Amino acid sequence: MNPKRYSLFVASLAGIVLLSSSASASAFDERAAKKLFKANDCTKCHASAKSKKGPSLKHIAKENKGKPDAMAKLIKHMTTGPTVKLEDGTQEEHKIIDTQDQDELKNLVEWILSH
Ligand code: HEC
Repeated sequence: MNPKRYSLFVASLAGIVLLSSSASASAFDERAAKKLFKANDCTKCHASAKSKKGPSLKHIAKENKGKPDAMAKLIKHMTTGPTVKLEDGTQEEHKIIDTQDQDELKNLVEWILSH
């Protein structure tokens, strides 16, 4: 390889490394996730660090992070309305989120698991 081509090659490699590292640093869109979470009144029962009627997002993340089925399980939870037990001991059907868009749902779960 002549020197000119070589430096081009190195420069494009560096570009790829930069691109992929910035992509993994923001694998999810936090703003969109929070917006969806708020718009669905999820905040009524879930807060970031402390439990309300439901577990905190930190708790949910701790229970599910690293499990291979976490994404599928949590999407199912948010879209099917299973019966859940609230902190006060009463039971009700879990809120069903108002979107079926898999990308939006995945983004939300990634944000939750990042807590
Ligand atoms: C009326 C209160 C209430 C509302 C509103 C609510 N949740 Fe929950 N949520 C709960 C409770 C209680 C649990 C705990 C269920 C359990 O562990 O049995 C829970 C659990 C979860 C879990 C963890 C499921 C698991 O298997 O670990 C996720 C994720 C979740 N909620 C997301 C949401 C989202 C997203 C919304 C808004 C669309 C929402 N919740 C709205 C009460 C609520």
